[in-house]
Amino acid sequence: MPTGSSGQVRPAPTGGSSRSPPGHNDRVTSPDATDPAALRPRLPSPVQEVVDGRFERRGVRLLLKRDDLIHPELIGNKWRKLAPNLAAAVGRTVVTFGGAWSNHLRATAAAGRLLGIPTVGVVRGDELADRPLNPSLARCAADGMRLHFVDRATYRRKTEPRTLAGILRAADAEEAWLVPEGGSNAEAVRGCLALGDELRDLADVVAVACGTGGTLAGLAAGLAPGQRALGIPVLRGGFLTADVRASQQQAFGGPRGTWSLDDRFHWGGYARVPDELDGFAADFEHRHDLPIERLYVAKLLHALVTLANEGAFPRGTTIAAVITGRPFP
Ligand SMILES: Cc1ncc(COP(=O)(O)O)c(C=O)c1O
Repeated sequence: MPTGSSGQVRPAPTGGSSRSPPGHNDRVTSPDATDPAALRPRLPSPVQEVVDGRFERRGVRLLLKRDDLIHPELIGNKWRKLAPNLAAAVGRTVVTFGGAWSNHLRATAAAGRLLGIPTVGVVRGDELADRPLNPSLARCAADGMRLHFVDRATYRRKTEPRTLAGILRAADAEEAWLVPEGGSNAEAVRGCLALGDELRDLADVVAVACGTGGTLAGLAAGLAPGQRALGIPVLRGGFLTADVRASQQQAFGGPRGTWSLDDRFHWGGYARVPDELDGFAADFEHRHDLPIERLYVAKLLHALVTLANEGAFPRGTTIAAVITGRPFP
């Protein structure tokens, strides 16, 4: 399917419709389109100690691993997961998947603009195709991402080879480099190894919020013996242990590092932010002058405060909480 015409909604051969972004031709072309290092990420990301009575009174130190400062547009684990994929794409179109508010879609679109790589976003929900874009999808489109909307039933089956082939054909992206929803393929998991490596000898426990668990899988692999990783799933369902194991198998050929999950802190499921959690996050922002992303980071920090209060960490423990994102917009 040709790209470049403004704001057009077009029927697709099977189960979807595509929208080419306005400004699609304004893409910035970098001298070396395949090298994300040209974007000068701030690595290793800074580590910041915060003084917080809720940890102090338990004899626990809290460090914040500021992955949100790696790059202004490829924020947090998005950098760590996307950079190796962009390098592997070697300038080919990158196609990926997400919901209407996906951080991952936005980051992929931004990366495409910055590196001059064409991007296609397969978006869940064909009913969205004819509506005004929400701010998150509008940002994707402004960054040059071609949006391809598919119905929810097809989207659910997108990992089945025949369905996937149909989606890619309909999106005119059959030759593209494929990044799965959430971005956690083997390249991405290996990209998160450096996160663990940067925290060697700095903390006893490294805690991270989990969606697909890809960040946790890589991070745990990069830690030193004696350190452990703690994952806080933000989705309901208790399926993540198997997913993290599978990610490590795919990325490293077997289990790596010491890690565990605590499934109690999803607050009802993905994107659920009850007032109490929002209040917790606003208070944390106020105490520590740090913008708190609500869907992942707030759930992580709330979990750590609760665990500290339960006495889950022995006195003398140093915890590093990975700040994987920043609020949007
Ligand atoms: C801000 C933020 N933190 C954490 C995660 C979880 O990462 P993973 O899917 O690798 O578990 C995501 C996933 O998209 C995210 O957007």
